[in-house]
Amino acid sequence: MFKRIGWCTDIHLDFVEYSVYREFISAILKAKLDAIFITGDIGNADSVDFYLQQLCKEIGIPVYFVLGNHDFYRGSIRETRKRISNLCQKTPGLIWVTIKGVMELTPNTVLLGHDSWADGRLGNYRDSGVMLNDYLHIKELSNLTKNERLKRLHKLGDEAADYLSYFLSRALENYDHIIFMTHVPPFKEACLYDGRVANDDWLPHFSCKAVGDVLYQGMINNQYVDALILCGHTHTRAEVDILPNLRVKTGAAEYGRPVLQEVICL
Ligand SMILES: [Fe+2]
Ligand SMILES: [Fe+2]
Repeated sequence: MFKRIGWCTDIHLDFVEYSVYREFISAILKAKLDAIFITGDIGNADSVDFYLQQLCKEIGIPVYFVLGNHDFYRGSIRETRKRISNLCQKTPGLIWVTIKGVMELTPNTVLLGHDSWADGRLGNYRDSGVMLNDYLHIKELSNLTKNERLKRLHKLGDEAADYLSYFLSRALENYDHIIFMTHVPPFKEACLYDGRVANDDWLPHFSCKAVGDVLYQGMINNQYVDALILCGHTHTRAEVDILPNLRVKTGAAEYGRPVLQEVICL
């Protein structure tokens, strides 16, 4: 049974010096946690397996995670997902939430999650000049026209939304509290940049509308259940109530300085 859960996001361990990494591990151990949740951007396609294994070994508690866009850099989405799935099968305590459906944390609290992807639907993709490294360093998103890329982004967002739709209905039927882990903020109100909601140039690359729509619909129809959404990606702290029973927390992050965002007590 879980009582204290640590939440981390965008730890980007490939940017972290060893001494800082040790401090990060000590902070986690000192917090006396029962499990840790990581909402993506752990390393890149070459290193994410290694970092996950190390974390699991060093902190000795279950590591629940989703992958972020950076975790596919210098590789492909398809191959990285396959590798991570295999890694989790042979590593006790390492749980890729994206493929696990609903997981009971306490008799009335359930966890679900999905990596998700910024789906290009909020803001103004057509006129946006933003060129994320995703579109250069991830196989499935590189060498595409802007229009072709948008179709891929829609597809990735829809994949996350379809998965959520399927499992959220099960969670809503059986539990009072839902925690949903994802990398990309599902609502524009949770995508801050310089202290305000990201502008129309950035929003298409910062948010997943498809997932937000499923969450909104699910929660507005089930007002006696509450959902906490944990995400990252923008590296800017946000905490918003989209509905009285739908709260979104986006974690703050700085390259080279991984932190424990928060301890969640169940
Ligand atoms: Fe990040
Ligand atoms: Fe990210």
